[in-house]
Amino acid sequence: MSNTLLIAQLRSIVGSTNVLTHDDPAADLRAYEQDWRKREHGASLAVVRPANTPEVAAVVKACAAAGASIVPQGGNTGMVVGSTPDASGTQVVLSLQRMNQVRTIDGANLTATVDAGCVLQAIQEACETAGFLFPLSMASEGSCTIGGNLGTNAGGTQVVRYGNTRELCLGLEVVTPQGEIWDGLSGLRKDNTGYDLRHLMIGSEGTLGVITGAIMKLYPLPAAQLTAFAAVPSLEAAVQLLGLAHQHLSAGLTGFEVMGQFALSLVTKHFPQLRVPFQDRADTPYCVVLENSDQESETHARERFERLLEVALEQGCVQDAVVAESITQARALWHIRESIPLAQAQEGLNIKHDISIAVSRIPEFVRLADAQLQAAFPGVRLVNYGHLGDGNLHYNVQAPAGSDAEAFLRDDEKGVNTIVYDMVDQFRGSISAEHGVGSLKREKLEQHKSPVALGMMRAIKQALDPKNTMNPGRVLSFK
Ligand code: FAD
Ligand code: MLT
Ligand code: ZN
Repeated sequence: MSNTLLIAQLRSIVGSTNVLTHDDPAADLRAYEQDWRKREHGASLAVVRPANTPEVAAVVKACAAAGASIVPQGGNTGMVVGSTPDASGTQVVLSLQRMNQVRTIDGANLTATVDAGCVLQAIQEACETAGFLFPLSMASEGSCTIGGNLGTNAGGTQVVRYGNTRELCLGLEVVTPQGEIWDGLSGLRKDNTGYDLRHLMIGSEGTLGVITGAIMKLYPLPAAQLTAFAAVPSLEAAVQLLGLAHQHLSAGLTGFEVMGQFALSLVTKHFPQLRVPFQDRADTPYCVVLENSDQESETHARERFERLLEVALEQGCVQDAVVAESITQARALWHIRESIPLAQAQEGLNIKHDISIAVSRIPEFVRLADAQLQAAFPGVRLVNYGHLGDGNLHYNVQAPAGSDAEAFLRDDEKGVNTIVYDMVDQFRGSISAEHGVGSLKREKLEQHKSPVALGMMRAIKQALDPKNTMNPGRVLSFK
């Protein structure tokens, strides 16, 4: 089938205004073809924006018949170049953005059923209005979609209590690579009827099908939430503080993020309007944001939180701390943490790592990796921050001050990655904790994952998408 015929078919399925092509001078496809980190710029055959699941199925069938490959796209905030087309001009970007309805909220079952293109923040707000908490949370929540969160099995800042997106999902609706619709939206908490297809789809980054709907877990809204920003004398101290926080707050510990001073200095540099505490303390290499959610009362929350900080001060794992006095202050403290990726992007192109290591071994990892990187690439700037409560660091590397970031990435990215990922292997960690693999980390995955695991992954891809039309070149190489 010719491209012209395929585009005509796609137009008849979703309406011509919802098929964008480069032939139309009025259509601006840049937002769909450029990844968030500006690592790659692709060229699509068309961007197609279906309105509902039957339209997605018809689009997938038409593309399958034409042999055109599909790149599912939600908010396009992914970090690993997974949702933008390659440069061939032959791929169809399937944008879920128009499928943005919260379908139902079932208070008794504690679930929300949502379209895959719902923006995360819109789900949080709809659930809160209905009196429930949907806890998935990350700085991109104003633009990322639940389909993308499921596609990447996103983490975020509440994982320490509520788990990754996977743990929050009770069922999916999926369009298969052949264009069939699988309705798995039962919302059951127990269902042992064979292989769990939901878990196969979650984290598959659009390579096994298109998620069109999901049923997600809800929680009661907390009676109180308190946030503190603490100065700590070392990463070891931050780990010690985490242990104390688990002990004192138990399930009330809903966030525990670490931030290196250099990462915080980028926030101050690029967003000078934000007031970052403890910037003047030369003896403070790291700060921590921690959050306590309480089902009882504000007083109860404050008592427990203050007791924790007292003990931490006594033990020397906290040097100083501020506890937010209002929701506005709490948001301001979280905003500092959430601004780090944006500040880093403003600073220039960078090498991002999203690694996980056993929490107890993180200080040792950072000490060794810092030393090896500085010896091999003198002057590199280490932008270290992340979800310490989950053992997940964004151990990022920025070009030496004043040097050309593009040239640094071109010449040194491989060498930097080799040092970091070889060390991750030595520590039995993972080279992708929450961002996924996309095309950026595909080769690395193939080097670092066991051949047995890769063989099983390829067998699954072969069984579900033998023609390799679903997001080819992502996660795995496959012919
Ligand atoms: P996209 O970027 O559009 O797609 C991501 C992947 O999912 C692609 O492979 C795509 O093909 C696939 N996909 C998208 N929709 C579907 C679908 N409906 N069906 C099947 N596959 C699909 N990530 C974290 O994990 N934790 C964080 O704390 C975090 N913070 C961030 C902060 C900032 C400022 C930014 C810019 C990003 C952050 N991210 C974080 C990364 C990103 O927001 C997440 O990966 C998010 O889950 C991507 O959602 P999206 O809708 O933008 O997906
Ligand atoms: C974060 O934790 O801020 C996100 O995963 C994004 C990033 O690492 O840049
Ligand atoms: Zn993160």
